Amino acid sequence: PVNVVVAVDGTSGSGKSSTCRAVADRLGLRYLDTGAQYRAITWWMLREGVDVHDAEAVAARAGEPVLVSGTDPLAPSITVDGVDVSVEIRSDEVNGAVSPVSAVPAVRSRLVDLQRALIGTGGIVVEGRDIGSVVWPQAELKVYLTADPAARAARRALENGGADLTATQESLLARDKIDSGRAVAPLTMADGAVHVDSTDLTLDEVVELVVGLVMERV
Ligand code: C5P
Repeated sequence: PVNVVVAVDGTSGSGKSSTCRAVADRLGLRYLDTGAQYRAITWWMLREGVDVHDAEAVAARAGEPVLVSGTDPLAPSITVDGVDVSVEIRSDEVNGAVSPVSAVPAVRSRLVDLQRALIGTGGIVVEGRDIGSVVWPQAELKVYLTADPAARAARRALENGGADLTATQESLLARDKIDSGRAVAPLTMADGAVHVDSTDLTLDEVVELVVGLVMERV
């Protein structure tokens, strides 16, 4: 499946990253985490002291930071102005600011251009919220990955070294609400997407399922 594009969208904490990385590794494809790009631009806005709730202020500076995404599924990376921010973009501060920043049209159009350029001639698994609906509607496979909020919070809290479950769930649901309700490119199941509910599946089971769906289509 050398030139295939696999678009995986879904709610926060549904297992998109782990699934996409494993699927890309299995099939010899590249991997693009578009959420990391939205997080990186948010990290930069916070560092610059931009008020992330002021959409005009965010839009005015959206073109400034230089973002570079590494697409190796075994070692994904993201740099802003040459600095690797892979760790910093997972902070509570970024978690709390990324959805308002992502709702700004100037931020989205800039990152969508970047994403399309990276997808290029294909051979990639791309995860986000609007990949199948906006960025690459012609993807050979579109997956809409979800899970119950409690399951998502449990997974995310475990990843974050046993963070508080209630607070983690609240943070996930707050992001879902903004991501689904925004005017531009809201989180939604794209036309032709396959809905996969991972609540009662292991990571391996989800990976098998998605690999099988790719193989059916190429
Ligand atoms: O996927 P992740 O949870 O890291 O994404 C962080 C945030 O980035 C999302 O909550 C959403 O606000 C934004 N995002 C987006 N469009 C994408 C990917 C992420 O708006 N394609």
